[in-house]
Amino acid sequence: MSTSQVDNPEHLGGGQNMNLLKFPKDFLWGTATSAHQVEGNNIHSDWWIWEQEKAGQLGGPRDKSGKACNHWKLYDEDFKRAAWLGNNAHRLSFEWAKIEPEEGKFNQEVLDHYHKVIASLKKHKLEPFVTLHHFTNPLWIAEKGGWENKETIKYFLRYVKKVTSEFADEINFWMTVNEPTVLVSMCWLEGFWAPHKRSVLEAFKVIRHFASAHRKAYKTIKNISKNSKVGFAHSINISAPLRKVGIDPLIASITNFLSSDFFLKITRGYSDFIGLNYYNRVHIGFKFSPPFYKIVFKGDLTDMGWEIYPEGISKVLRGLKKYNLPIYITENGIADVSDQKRPYFIIAHLEKVWQAIQEGISVKGYFYWSLIDNFEWDSGFSKRFGLFEIDFKTQKRTPRESARIYKEICTKNEISERLTKKYLS
Ligand code: BGC
Repeated sequence: MSTSQVDNPEHLGGGQNMNLLKFPKDFLWGTATSAHQVEGNNIHSDWWIWEQEKAGQLGGPRDKSGKACNHWKLYDEDFKRAAWLGNNAHRLSFEWAKIEPEEGKFNQEVLDHYHKVIASLKKHKLEPFVTLHHFTNPLWIAEKGGWENKETIKYFLRYVKKVTSEFADEINFWMTVNEPTVLVSMCWLEGFWAPHKRSVLEAFKVIRHFASAHRKAYKTIKNISKNSKVGFAHSINISAPLRKVGIDPLIASITNFLSSDFFLKITRGYSDFIGLNYYNRVHIGFKFSPPFYKIVFKGDLTDMGWEIYPEGISKVLRGLKKYNLPIYITENGIADVSDQKRPYFIIAHLEKVWQAIQEGISVKGYFYWSLIDNFEWDSGFSKRFGLFEIDFKTQKRTPRESARIYKEICTKNEISERLTKKYLS
């Protein structure tokens, strides 16, 4: 984009009225989900087994995912809801554990199911963004040592090759992995999720494996369909020191380094776009036992106990400008069962996204997490991120007030003066 275009807010849709935030004409509006969290019955996955063994117990997930949102059956009506929101894109994941439940045996019925899912998205005029690995693994991969085992890269590539060849003509946007640094910190640094390790060395090994898997998967996909756009979803938050004195600033700068664009640096040259997942700011303090840091949230908090910090997305986007790649916000959302804070959350973050676009940062789309309430990993069904509320007994979906607000924004491709005045002043 030329400087004159940046200077001319009309081109970017800025207009004269600074309370009216217009987005570029080709902006993508969507929501995001992941297979294990919505489909149900992911019986061949490592998460499913962990849930059967440990749900409700100390150190285990709160719930079993069971049928989750029954999205496996209800996908078409859910995509109809996304279309009602005025969306033109949708982010979802394919489930490796369903596609390859046994080593080397691909389940054609499952692939055929995903063909129908993609056809349904297209029927509803939603551009699919498909993630190939969103936290879960086939059980047989976990039994071979999961991502600690270098061989997993090879198995992942075989799966990637199979799936991307099968869908080469149907999908333009591929995301290899979701938030590798978050997965590593949950499983190998903080030890909350299986395999419950607290080892900096193991964590580095796994990160290296994910980076190698991404680079190789990028090449594999581009060889199969050279026009497709390939990236991964990267979580970046802001780390601030808990105390301004002592060792905390040093610890915070290390976690900032690792949780900011570190993974982008080690995979540089192997992405056609950046998928940014942004949620919050954390305060980091030193502690004497591994992983030698603790995370504290302050300020206005969500139901997850996370700080609402829209300023952070501006900082993160400015930091990503140097990559000179299109950026999609592939996740941004809030757990808020009362829906009291969600409208502000969405509008305040979108205002920052809009500002970033005015600064010439190439943000091309925004996917709210999530379309529907779903299975929030170790928190089970207790945390509600959805624009649509789900009654998990009946599977009935009901739009929250925030869904109507997001619909207005997506449909008009702008945040109206009325909304900015109501929520931002
Ligand atoms: C993950 C989602 C998760 C969301 C909210 C992201 O880190 O990709 O799977 O549900 O955060 O915790």
